[in-house]
Amino acid sequence: MPTPRLRYTCQSCGYASPKWLGRCPDCGEWNTFVEEAAPESGPRPHPRAPAGADAVRSAADVPVDLEPRQATGIGEFDRVLGGGIVPGSLILIAGEPGAGKSTIASQVAARLAAEDSAVLYVSGEESVRQARLRMERLGRIPPGLLLLAENDLDTISAAIDARSPTLTVIDSIQSVYRPDLPSAPGSVGQVRECTGSLLVLAKRRGISMLIVGHVTKEGTVAGPRVLEHLVDTVLYFEGDRHHGFRVLRATKNRFGSTNEIGVFEMGPAGLTEVPNPSAAFLAERPAETSGSAVVCALEGTRPLLLEIQSLVTPTPFGMPRRTAAGVDYNRLLLLLAVLERRAGLHLASHDVYASVTGGMTVDDPAADLGLAAAVASAFRDRPVDPGTVILGEVGLAGEVRAVPQAARRVAEAARLGFQRAVTPRGEGVEWPETIEIIPVATVAEALAVLLS
Ligand code: TYD
Ligand code: MG
Repeated sequence: MPTPRLRYTCQSCGYASPKWLGRCPDCGEWNTFVEEAAPESGPRPHPRAPAGADAVRSAADVPVDLEPRQATGIGEFDRVLGGGIVPGSLILIAGEPGAGKSTIASQVAARLAAEDSAVLYVSGEESVRQARLRMERLGRIPPGLLLLAENDLDTISAAIDARSPTLTVIDSIQSVYRPDLPSAPGSVGQVRECTGSLLVLAKRRGISMLIVGHVTKEGTVAGPRVLEHLVDTVLYFEGDRHHGFRVLRATKNRFGSTNEIGVFEMGPAGLTEVPNPSAAFLAERPAETSGSAVVCALEGTRPLLLEIQSLVTPTPFGMPRRTAAGVDYNRLLLLLAVLERRAGLHLASHDVYASVTGGMTVDDPAADLGLAAAVASAFRDRPVDPGTVILGEVGLAGEVRAVPQAARRVAEAARLGFQRAVTPRGEGVEWPETIEIIPVATVAEALAVLLS
């Protein structure tokens, strides 16, 4: 096979060069050049009869044949996708090593293969024996589940062409390579070109593809970031391997809403669904301990109750420490400043630790007031009433601001047996009747209610 001509393009500005450069002469960035196959050169014949003209049609006349989605039967997975796999779509499952990407991919493959569709599982990291052993651990192996241990994309494409599976799993995109490109598997150029080839194959043959991609802690090195724009759906596996809970989050979805999450628990027989995550996250809550507050964050369309914990101790010497796990560090600093100036808590000579239990991450501003309450509770060493859920965004003036979908969040708390909700004033909100609503206007007012 003739080696194609290569060119190198800057990932930052798009500058193309015939050889690799350390620094882009155009934008000045370092180490941004990535090789790719150069487009065929030579004079392009001018199209005499513009073929594109026939393909243009009125948007109103485009037929919409709604293809049925292929439900996998794994409820939390289908929910994140928006009801199942759209035939011919490319789904990227990204996450740190050990998150459970191979596990969920194997479970999805086995479920679909059990429904009489051929599913091809391409393992580029493990032998077929290892892949089979994992599948055995996860349940019965249906006969329609095909395994291939291969790294060469040409061989993989040939296998897909020959077997025409309805779903192909590529585990992982970093382990496959196109032999006509000189760079190593896993490099940005390889990852992008391979995904591009798979995209063409998927769209032409109507084969759905589940592509596994590793991300490093920094989320950069040849990671799935470079191919997010190529695929239809991007799912991130969150939660570290030290916790049982794993959250699957859609950050891009051409066929459904984003930020939808599915909650799983890793066990000896693979990932099991957690149908009632709020209850699971609150299961180990200590009773009557200071520094603990329950908030309700909205994840996609799903309200989720979470416990925020804080610990405040006098600083032994020097600079006070602030540590945040699962909450944004800068948000914590901002709330500490608000507590200092607007609620009279003198935290300047104290170390402050804050975390979300269960290995979860909250970035919903509606958790602000709960985080502030947890810190204040720890500082004053007075517990927050365990039957109270706390809701509200906090502004720099110490005011408690309205949050979207407040009534749905409170309803979730009521469902789990909470008796009181401290909330923003929420004019016109139709609160559920089974729970007592305590509207507050400022952080100081909220703390007076919560820590009395
Ligand atoms: P894996 O899916 O291989 O992670 P990834 O492909 O994202 O790197 O497995 C994640 C971890 O889960 C691994 O350390 C082993 C563990 N595990 C279980 O606890 N139970 C199981 O049934 C399986 C298959 C794996
Ligand atoms: Mg794996």
